[in-house]
Amino acid sequence: MSLDGYRIVVTGAGSGIGLRIAEVVRDAGADVLVSDVSEQALAPATAAGLAGVVADSSDEAQVAHLMKQVQEQLGGLDVLVNNAGIAGPTGPVEELDSDAWRRTFDVNIHGQFYAVKHALPLLRRSQDPSIVNLSSAAGRLGMSGRTPYSASKWAVVGFTKSLAVELGDEGIRVNAICPGAVDGPRIRGVIDAKAEMLGRPVEEITDLYLNQSSLRRFVTVDDVAALVLFVSGPGGRMISGQALAVDGNTEKLY
Ligand SMILES: NC(=O)c1ccc[n+]([C@@H]2O[C@H](COP(=O)([O-])OP(=O)(O)OC[C@H]3O[C@@H](n4cnc5c(N)ncnc54)[C@H](O)[C@@H]3O)[C@@H](O)[C@H]2O)c1
Repeated sequence: MSLDGYRIVVTGAGSGIGLRIAEVVRDAGADVLVSDVSEQALAPATAAGLAGVVADSSDEAQVAHLMKQVQEQLGGLDVLVNNAGIAGPTGPVEELDSDAWRRTFDVNIHGQFYAVKHALPLLRRSQDPSIVNLSSAAGRLGMSGRTPYSASKWAVVGFTKSLAVELGDEGIRVNAICPGAVDGPRIRGVIDAKAEMLGRPVEEITDLYLNQSSLRRFVTVDDVAALVLFVSGPGGRMISGQALAVDGNTEKLY
């Protein structure tokens, strides 16, 4: 699956899933630029040989600057991967801090809107333009104690499906990817917070998370990157407006 000649920007890709997506599409031949909130956050991507730009996805001016850099450094854009996202606060809804609620939406959905708005002039000049928005299994299912995260990821699916209709006649494909629990430091933080909220041992909550999926194992960053690679390239030519699950068949979230 070659992405030779494709120019791709991945937001929030200093580390985690975004970094792996950037590496995999780069290794498939694409020219890649990544963004993250600070030089420090970008450091693992820089160490992996990726070019990076500091841009907070929740700040429209910084996102506009990022797209200017995309034009300057890549000479155009074929694929926008809206990966930047935060877990948001965990707790019963009436105890959630309102600023933390708003921050979750600022990064997880407003950030995707800013990126699409400022990337579209570039994407319109591409031969095979597409947008990939990171949602979550929590964007298909309800999740107790994680209402801001789940609501923001459902918003990503609504944004994706609406954009796919709005941009379809220009040949721009738009898809969301919905990973289940991905192994890594972020999910361990989420599990710790859930264990504390429920007053139960971390091991018990880890087991609950593993058993969310029929395959009874965590998703890996490679599983997510492989789907982004497929849907971004020629194989994804007729795929648009979909919320694609990569979750080992997750039917209930804890
Ligand atoms: N980890 C999971 O289990 C999981 C499951 C489903 C969906 N997702 C989604 O996948 C995406 C990546 O998740 P991850 O697990 O790699 O997260 P992570 O926290 O490990 O990494 C996210 C990266 O985004 C960056 N970031 C945070 N806020 C940002 C901002 N305002 N602007 C730019 N960059 C910012 C961070 O610095 C970090 O480098 C997110 O959208 C997340 O919601 C993750």
